[in-house]
Amino acid sequence: MLPTARIPAALIGPDKILWPVDIFGKSRTRMTHAFAQPLSALPSGRLAGRVMAPGDKSISHRALMLGALAIGETTISGLLESGDIMATAAAMRAFGATVERGTDDIWRVNGLGTGGLLEPEGIIDFANAGTGVRLTIGIAGAHPFATTFVGDASLSRRPMARVLDPLRDMGAEVIARSGDRLPLTIRGADPMAPIEYRVPMPSAQVKSAVLLAGLNIDGVTTVIEPVATRDHTERMLKGFGADITTEHANGGTIIRLVGRPELTPQRVTVPADPSSSAFLFVAGLLVPDSEVTVENVLLNPSRIGLIVTLKEMGADLAIENERQSGGETIGDVRVRASRLNGVHVPAERAPSMIDEYPVLAVAAAFAEGDTTMEGLAELRVKESDRLAAVARGLEANGVTCREGDDSLVVTGGRVRGGGTVTTHLDHRIAMSFLIMGLAAEQAVSVDDSAIIGTSFPDFVEQLKRLGADFADGAEAA
Ligand code: S3P
Repeated sequence: MLPTARIPAALIGPDKILWPVDIFGKSRTRMTHAFAQPLSALPSGRLAGRVMAPGDKSISHRALMLGALAIGETTISGLLESGDIMATAAAMRAFGATVERGTDDIWRVNGLGTGGLLEPEGIIDFANAGTGVRLTIGIAGAHPFATTFVGDASLSRRPMARVLDPLRDMGAEVIARSGDRLPLTIRGADPMAPIEYRVPMPSAQVKSAVLLAGLNIDGVTTVIEPVATRDHTERMLKGFGADITTEHANGGTIIRLVGRPELTPQRVTVPADPSSSAFLFVAGLLVPDSEVTVENVLLNPSRIGLIVTLKEMGADLAIENERQSGGETIGDVRVRASRLNGVHVPAERAPSMIDEYPVLAVAAAFAEGDTTMEGLAELRVKESDRLAAVARGLEANGVTCREGDDSLVVTGGRVRGGGTVTTHLDHRIAMSFLIMGLAAEQAVSVDDSAIIGTSFPDFVEQLKRLGADFADGAEAA
């Protein structure tokens, strides 16, 4: 066993979240969100320095999964070591793959080949991880054995029909709780039928679940996306040697995958997550006199909607040292404190910044004038109903906003702060409102910061290193 010093602090300790497996995969316990940990962000002085957000969550999930589906050893450096990703690592082990972290911090996955997974002996607990469970349902649903999935209270509320429907079309059998929610059991047919699937909502998770199922089905699986979403699955499948093509037409894509490829193990380098970096950008823009450089940020065109929007708002934000790494564009993003103006964010931009709206809403609260965000229906089915959670959080801190069915208008200006925000087991709600507290007139508290460990375990430490102030407990009134 590796020394415990190598385990990120946020993954251990009696006052932390207990993860579904120990990090080495030797034991397995039911995920418990042990204790809510209230935390306050205090109005802070200048933030300055260079930081790096952890590895990209989307790429980390996919690297573990494709590693498990390739024969031989895939190495992954820069893997995000967070609750969501540890749940995927545990799931891949449950299907028979070996997933280990070496003393060199490099993760090694020894896979079993497409169609080579084994029936798990127990249930698979995905805790809070929507991407992890939906993509793994795609993989498991094309194997002729039963797999049972569970999750935490947040994940158990989220819709799974979006991935179960196409899998049923391919021949899988499903027993799920009413409304197609977790817990659920899926069993693939033998053989499964390849389908042509038009994704009804803009969702990279649904696209990916269908493609991952298609890996174990003879023939060509086709996915039609009327609106393009993040393309990490397609890029990585190509990198692992799959026969996959993408055609771009009218803002959408048609993806064709030839089933049953032999995937070749790869050396994957995971760049820093732009969705986690987003909190650092906004902190640097809002706290007076700050200058912050966020290094190694993934700049895939399907992920940069927030950068485009912040620049439109007048942010002093520059991309430096842009380069290619592992088939992706990455760069360092330098921000300086800026006076922002309200803007209109068009609905078509939503897929390229879907996880960034909570922190954009915080930036908008400090901007001059109204910021209107449209096309936000998908925010209602994230880790929380994010549209409602953001609106309530803004109101609790004295910010005027108007919540529509799928839109939000934030009236910017002075931000009083002083509120306590309910996070609803949603890491991005917790982080967004802590950023608000660094720049508001009074502290902002969140009822639970432990959930941040699902995606950005050292969020608070990174910000403290830049000069931010936090206090344990709920300081705010
Ligand atoms: C993700 C896709 C997005 C995003 C999620 C990660 C992925 O979800 O919100 O955090 O890795 O494919 P949808 O595709 O359902 O919008």
